[in-house]
Amino acid sequence: MSALSLRNLLKTFGGLVAVANVSFEVEDLSIVGLIGPNGAGKTTVFNMITGNYRPDSGDVIFNRRAITGMPTHEIVSLGIARTFQNIRLFQNMTVLENVLAGCHCRMKAGLFSSMFRFPRQRREERHAVEQAMRELAFVGLDRQYNNLAGNLSYGNQRLLEIARALASQPRFLILDEPAGGMNDQETEDLMGLIRNIRGRDITVLLIEHDMNLVMRVCEKIVVLEYGAVIAEGTPAQIKTNPLVIEAYLGVED
Ligand SMILES: Nc1ncnc2c1ncn2[C@@H]1O[C@H](COP(=O)(O)OP(=O)(O)OP(=O)(O)O)[C@@H](O)[C@H]1O
Ligand SMILES: [Mg+2]
Repeated sequence: MSALSLRNLLKTFGGLVAVANVSFEVEDLSIVGLIGPNGAGKTTVFNMITGNYRPDSGDVIFNRRAITGMPTHEIVSLGIARTFQNIRLFQNMTVLENVLAGCHCRMKAGLFSSMFRFPRQRREERHAVEQAMRELAFVGLDRQYNNLAGNLSYGNQRLLEIARALASQPRFLILDEPAGGMNDQETEDLMGLIRNIRGRDITVLLIEHDMNLVMRVCEKIVVLEYGAVIAEGTPAQIKTNPLVIEAYLGVED
């Protein structure tokens, strides 16, 4: 079954067609890679899935339900979480506080009412902290919980964004260049982490320029060029596809 189905998504900015009738499926519990040259429209596709951009036309179907144009917080509450290509952390807050920011959307008592600290709110807060610490341990940052996010290495900031996304308890996780700025060892560890995320029954859709990571971790790869899908298939199929080699891999190697 498809967890996510994109149907003829179109997005233009002025005269520029950033995404030109893109359609593809993400099977439930799979790891799918979206690749393509700079400016191909990858992040714009993600922004339409997560409600950051409204498509000019086309549909986003999540678990058989159209979510096209829904506000981002509703999409999060349906179980889609994401990280950003340009890291968006609260640099002056601690690592733990950043993850708690991801939990709050799931807390019934809002931030304001929790200031009064009724027993139920205290329970929810304690639960949120425990959950946040579990996610930090999952990505390997629990010992740094009290450090300022801005003091983490670039690679660890990427992991923190993943922990924050996981704190919303998603069923579907979208990662925009998770290995960006990571060294070889961090990238290697990230592959294990992505597999472990799927091991928690979370479907993963990722954008990544690191071909080694994409080829080793993804079951399916979709290739965009100039806003359009030019190829789709297994890593083995993509590696040998002449269109892809010309458009993308040929440039890299
Ligand atoms: N908000 C916006 N306003 C105007 N143009 C935009 C906007 N967002 C994206 N674009 C343009 O749309 C095209 C696709 O951009 P997008 O960020 O989706 O590419 P990408 O595939 O993610 O590239 P990269 O690998 O460099 O991140 C680019 O030409 C970009 O300049
Ligand atoms: Mg991008």
